[in-house]
Amino acid sequence: MPGAVPNPLRNALDRRLPRIAGPSVLVLFGVTGDLARKKLLPAIYDLANRGLLPPGFGLVGFARRDWEDQDFADEAYQAVREHARTPFREDVWRQLSEGVRFVQGELHDDDAFDRLAECVRTLDTERGTGGNYAFYLSLPPKLFPTVVKQLKRSGLAEPEEDQVSEGGIRPWRRVVIEKPFGHDLESARDLNAVVDDVFPPSSVFRIDHYLGKETVQNILALRFANTLFEPLWNRSYVDHVQITMAEDIGVGGRAGYYDGIGAARDVIQNHLLQLLALVAMEEPISYSADALRAEKEKVLASVSLPEDLSTGTARGQYAAGWQGGAAVRGYLEEEGIPSDSVTETYAALKLSVDTRRWSGVPFYLRTGKRLGRRVTEVALVFQAAPQQLFPRTDVSEVGQNALVLRIQPDEGVTLRFGSKVPGASMEVRDVSMDFAYGQSFTEASPEAYERLILDVLIGDPPLFPRQEEVELSWRILDPVEEYWSKAGQPEQYGSGTWGPESAEQLLSRDGRQWRRP
Ligand code: BG6
Repeated sequence: MPGAVPNPLRNALDRRLPRIAGPSVLVLFGVTGDLARKKLLPAIYDLANRGLLPPGFGLVGFARRDWEDQDFADEAYQAVREHARTPFREDVWRQLSEGVRFVQGELHDDDAFDRLAECVRTLDTERGTGGNYAFYLSLPPKLFPTVVKQLKRSGLAEPEEDQVSEGGIRPWRRVVIEKPFGHDLESARDLNAVVDDVFPPSSVFRIDHYLGKETVQNILALRFANTLFEPLWNRSYVDHVQITMAEDIGVGGRAGYYDGIGAARDVIQNHLLQLLALVAMEEPISYSADALRAEKEKVLASVSLPEDLSTGTARGQYAAGWQGGAAVRGYLEEEGIPSDSVTETYAALKLSVDTRRWSGVPFYLRTGKRLGRRVTEVALVFQAAPQQLFPRTDVSEVGQNALVLRIQPDEGVTLRFGSKVPGASMEVRDVSMDFAYGQSFTEASPEAYERLILDVLIGDPPLFPRQEEVELSWRILDPVEEYWSKAGQPEQYGSGTWGPESAEQLLSRDGRQWRRP
């Protein structure tokens, strides 16, 4: 076919065909936590239900609770019944639960890790799990060093010689780390040094669950599997980019984790900067992990902050208000939050991407809890038409064209543009053209954790940020955090609103405004 050139996404599609995990054990640390119950255990069941886990699969929980295998299996069953995405099937559960084991112990207890080693070896014999182990650390980062060192000490970090097959095939060992990867550049480096000492970089899977979302991966498909958008995807056409991650929930039961961390460390350092990188990067030479990460790193390395952080950033803390018709408490009244906390629950930044493609195009990022509604989107707002040809058009009726990538909850893509209003005069008004996942595809999108756990078990790394990306992201955020740490109490904003006044000013100062998603 004339003009057809190799498509960089092709390899990925080819590789999709046999995407089924091989024999393996997933060892889960932090099984009693919220993430395990609401996301990880249900995702494992959903994978099994979709036929993507092998019969020889083992799931081992490790925790302090005084549980037997059956207690853990019962807890997992509850989690699956409450939170799994796919329908419950007795036969799938039975098969999966036969491989469920529990090891009781403290993280610093050598005996417990020796028992863990014995447990996985026994699973190899009983279930044919092949000596392949993934260790999922769903734990606070301060505990990572202890676990990683224990894995090394107990011999779990590397296969033993008797596990290497006659043909020389070595079983794999992988470690999965949940965010936050440190709380600044220095601590991220320290953390990495500990992990790096035990596992080679190719065995370390850093989870940023946004990269597991279908709609986030679709940014690459939209840009690089089409010809339509890319010619406009630059400073010649784009006026600015808005990346919004708004949540309607408050801090809930996560006070212990959230306070002192705040919105920027919680989600800008990872999810929002990853979105920015995917939107702003150049086309990678292939869909390999290295090529993709290299392009993202170039973007992150070219990001700069505004000179004046007092006008180029905004932060806020939610006050009491109304949400969904109910009165809700302010952040400082939440259980477990000190009444003088200066932790921000809203953060907005204006960033520049200093590349030939993006020079002069501001990227505005915002996130917050207790905002008007739950929505994550990326909007490319295009420059206004150079002149208004149609005199009857009220300029306020025609905004700038926008391409909105709707990440969630109403997944899809919207294109906003001006159209003639039916009638005898030439009047133009903004309309939308929509693509909705629900209407175009029959199958529902898998949960991010399904995709990511499967990728870990398969050993497929493109969707996992590497250490360089983590460090570059902290390099962007550290000066902001330092500035805020000296700036006292964040501005209050009412629950159920769209954030503090200073965030509005961040854009209005530039003659722009936030979209109302
Ligand atoms: C997590 C943050 O990474 O993402 C939470 O720690 C946040 O604070 C969550 O609520 C939001 O995830 P999602 O997938 O619901 O957008």
